[in-house]
Amino acid sequence: MLNITRFAVEGMTAGCVTDSAHPVFGFALESDGQNVTLRSATLTVGDWSVETTDQVAVQYAGPVLQPFTVYHAALQVTASNGETARADLDFETGRMDTPWQGQWISDPDYRFTEKKVSPKPMVFRKAFHPEKTVEKARLYVTAMGVYELELNGQKVGDRWFAPGFTSYKTNLQYQTYDVTAQLGEYNTLTATVAGGWAVGSFVFTRVNRVTADRQALLAELRVTYTDGSEEVIGTDSSWQVTEDGPVRMADLYDGETYDATVNMDRANWHAAAPETLRVSPAIRAEIGAPVKVQAVLKPVSCKKVGEELIYDFGQNFAGVIRLTVKGKAGQVITIRHAEILNPDGTLNTAFLRTAKATAAYTCREGVQTWNPRFTYMGFRYISVTGAAEETLTVEALALWSDVRRIGSFECSDKMLNQLQSNILWGARSNFIDIPTDCPQRDERMGWTGDIAVFAPTACFNFDMGRFLKKWLRDVKNEQLKTGGIPNTVPVQGYGFPATMPEMAIAWWGDACVLVPWAMYQASGDVEILRAMYPTMKKYVGACKFWAGLFSLGKKKYIWAMPGAFSFGDWVAPDVPQMGQWQARNKWTGTASLCNTSALVAKVARILGNDADAKTYQQLSDAAADAYCSILTDGNGKLLEEFQTAYVLPLYLKMFPENVRAKAVDNLVRLVEKSDYCIGTGFPGTPYILFALADNGRPDVAYKMLMNTKCPSWLYEVRVGATTIWERWDGLDENGTCPIGDDGTDKMISYNHYASGAVGAFLYQRIAGLEATEPGYKRFAVKPLIGGGLTWAKAEVETPYGIASSAWELKDGTLTVTVTVPVGTTCDVTLPDGKTQTFGSGVYSVSTSCR
Ligand code: BGC
Repeated sequence: MLNITRFAVEGMTAGCVTDSAHPVFGFALESDGQNVTLRSATLTVGDWSVETTDQVAVQYAGPVLQPFTVYHAALQVTASNGETARADLDFETGRMDTPWQGQWISDPDYRFTEKKVSPKPMVFRKAFHPEKTVEKARLYVTAMGVYELELNGQKVGDRWFAPGFTSYKTNLQYQTYDVTAQLGEYNTLTATVAGGWAVGSFVFTRVNRVTADRQALLAELRVTYTDGSEEVIGTDSSWQVTEDGPVRMADLYDGETYDATVNMDRANWHAAAPETLRVSPAIRAEIGAPVKVQAVLKPVSCKKVGEELIYDFGQNFAGVIRLTVKGKAGQVITIRHAEILNPDGTLNTAFLRTAKATAAYTCREGVQTWNPRFTYMGFRYISVTGAAEETLTVEALALWSDVRRIGSFECSDKMLNQLQSNILWGARSNFIDIPTDCPQRDERMGWTGDIAVFAPTACFNFDMGRFLKKWLRDVKNEQLKTGGIPNTVPVQGYGFPATMPEMAIAWWGDACVLVPWAMYQASGDVEILRAMYPTMKKYVGACKFWAGLFSLGKKKYIWAMPGAFSFGDWVAPDVPQMGQWQARNKWTGTASLCNTSALVAKVARILGNDADAKTYQQLSDAAADAYCSILTDGNGKLLEEFQTAYVLPLYLKMFPENVRAKAVDNLVRLVEKSDYCIGTGFPGTPYILFALADNGRPDVAYKMLMNTKCPSWLYEVRVGATTIWERWDGLDENGTCPIGDDGTDKMISYNHYASGAVGAFLYQRIAGLEATEPGYKRFAVKPLIGGGLTWAKAEVETPYGIASSAWELKDGTLTVTVTVPVGTTCDVTLPDGKTQTFGSGVYSVSTSCR
């Protein structure tokens, strides 16, 4: 039987509201037959239809779509074996380019001038009484700040931190809510708008008012009556506003203060007034993956330490607490958050730096439930004061962007499984509307280098399509005239001069190439490459310029910057200081130039631009040649040796064939010398195991991976990590933090996904599941047996359907079982080197293996 397992428009199977003139469809199939492919598919949208054999990205190309309209899409497929299936889907257009009838409004009386804090939350309200029978009602809303809506006391929708974090000076999202069922006869619409990223304090300098002087709201309620008439209620001066709401303080870093005794009838409501913004972004329908409550966690323990109740959730994550308490009016409950404890059992908040990460709640009388709504914290532990344990129920709401889980990895080693879990939680905690570096201290910024190296792993575990496309749009928007990419995207107040993005920063700016490339491998959707191609070219042009400045001959391709102008081998554990990490930028920079230019050459070829492909490949070859000629003895030995300096040229195939084996031996020597511990920073860590395993030393790769000595991935696991850390030495053998102020500006985060980039190795090598054509149209299963593992399995929901690899070693026999989606081809290679090719279906192959 043939099934359509997924039919999506713009990456969504339901609830899509789009402003795109050409929405993109994709579908996956499942069949119990073997060698099934798609013969043809007919996609129909309204009166338009198209026949296609493309499952990944079928673009609507019919008559111009009208705004505010529900469209029906139908998909009819016929498989090669004659079986057929059908699926249906509704989507809705947003405003398209319809001018807003609502105006931007704010509180004309509110002057927000304090520095380093967030503004008082504003509450707007409007009463509305429909005179006729409502057929449909939609709310279109955006804000300067982050908003939450209530209609008649009920939260509208389930998003957090709307309208989301974008490069506000260039673009702003609006959200669409279907409120037909929520509308009554007499209605009050309330919007609370906190400072968020646009107005609130942000970045470790705690700069505020970056985009707007105070919060502002833009909304339109569009009501269609059963008689066909329409009414639009837009924001204007008939709306009321106050700062006397129950949310007394809300700040992304500092937390939230809420007073449940506040009586809104006594608030100083006054007329809102039109507001002129400083920026004029394009306001378009949401394209990203909104933050939502994705899991509710219960504490695993509660201990009384002095006056504090210390709860442990057993898992580090990003989110907020939900309290249910039998309280007395005026009773104040204070909740602080931390990732680790001090030896005396109290919270260690030293590494949050200026982030107060505190929630404070003033009770009314009786049983009540509360959670903050305009902030989030990164934590595993909380301290509660002001309430007795028996009066409280404490839960946690884990928040992350709506990225669908599509991948899983499991094997016979419990610690590796915990590592995979840590990778997942590290990702979830840092997918908060944009890819952030960490969720707890005063950063949580869109650091480009972190996602540049983590993107391939992210794309194995989650459907990153919408989330990363939104962010890449801002990467493009924020690219500097020089071609450099800001170190954080959106920039939003970050103007740290130490590393000037105008100059292009190796591996960090590389995100504009590496992230779309990873997405293309996972999705097969060429549009992301097309969209980013001009950005990539301009960026690589800048890298080449800075590499070549003031140099001659081959040295023009050695990209060396004065230490502070690059991040080099960031957080490499074999040298202790920031300065020393950065000083390695000659090696990391040159390898980056070689890598990005080679990838841009590939992209050029895919897009049919052979002339560009040639130019960029030449640049890549020149960088590889310069690296080997100038930084090595010409015989596979680095003049200055460290792990990353070997890993990058090995992984990127920069060494001439005849010296590669020697370079591998040299890397192995360094790894053995470090007792199989990690010595790599951000640029080297994702690739070290590939560099070893793919060059004939899977034994050394496995030894490194399975090592439990510090620094190593499994050391973190052994001492109790539940996420991936920024540094490997965050906790000692007793589970306490050994690091004080060591000159790294207290850079000790326990939730940084970058070195979780090893996740790709688990899928691609241990389970051996790897796309060999983009989107897994063709893929390989080539398990890497070793490390004492007796079985491993990985599954990925590809654009075509589920692909999986599972192997088991039993009594000297290796059995590999693969699942091949309809329309794809899989090449299974066993350790004896023999390859067998399969079309769709489930297959097992065995061989003897000792
Ligand atoms: C962040 C990193 C980031 C780095 C840039 C740190 O403070 O947390 O993850 O990439 O700065 O060097």
